[in-house]
Amino acid sequence: MSGSTIVPWVIGNWKMNPTRAASEQWTQEFKKILQQTSIKETKCRLAIAPIFIALSEINSQLQDSASPVNIVAQDVSRFAATGAYTGEISADLLTDYGIQYVLIGHSERRELLGDHAPVLADKLRLALKAGLTVIYCVGESLEQREQGIADAVVLQQICDIAAVVEDHQWQTQMIIAYEPIWAIGTGKTASAQDAQSMHEKIRAGLLQLTAHGANIAILYGGSVKPENAKELAACADINGALVGGASLNAHSFYQIADAFAQ
Ligand code: PGA
Repeated sequence: MSGSTIVPWVIGNWKMNPTRAASEQWTQEFKKILQQTSIKETKCRLAIAPIFIALSEINSQLQDSASPVNIVAQDVSRFAATGAYTGEISADLLTDYGIQYVLIGHSERRELLGDHAPVLADKLRLALKAGLTVIYCVGESLEQREQGIADAVVLQQICDIAAVVEDHQWQTQMIIAYEPIWAIGTGKTASAQDAQSMHEKIRAGLLQLTAHGANIAILYGGSVKPENAKELAACADINGALVGGASLNAHSFYQIADAFAQ
């Protein structure tokens, strides 16, 4: 790990996976691993984002694990409180069901499910108002990177967030995840240098936008695996990982968390 005082986060994004039986096996295996070698919360914070229907069940399965494992919702409604919005789950209902964290702005939702900037602003505003901590994803496409506009795209996404987040909310309720879209699920990781270089620019942007800029965790996501976790963890501005594919294996997920806990 770097000399930063930010406690890293390693968060497993399970996406539309796995089956109920496989997730129960995962929680049992992960608890067993943590029982042998726990990860101190002061060294690395752990979380997983299961499918909505499994949030409460997995939360209870992990209650007695040797290191706390936080539960993250993968999305939240852009509509408030309760009401006639079939299929939606609001931020207030998430907190009511004991969920404290939510992912917002994942590129899969931006690309496939209509999560455009105004929708994301609504989701972010309501999530923060309800007291959730938000893991907000930013990142450029391959085309944008090739056009040389990656920095501008990502910094614009950070500015979109800043238009919504109030200063005190930056301090305790915001985590940023930089996920270059071309590295997600492709096996292609941004090199540690490329990732660090973008994280440094995000940090500089955050420092301009809020007095809390130095303390906000910036996670890297995109084909993080046990093989590249150490190198990423050694970068000064990479404060953890948002892990997709590799988080479905309890041993791989543990190894990545362990790399960031060192
Ligand atoms: P990946 O996914 O690790 O499978 O590339 C990361 C993510 O989409 O959060």
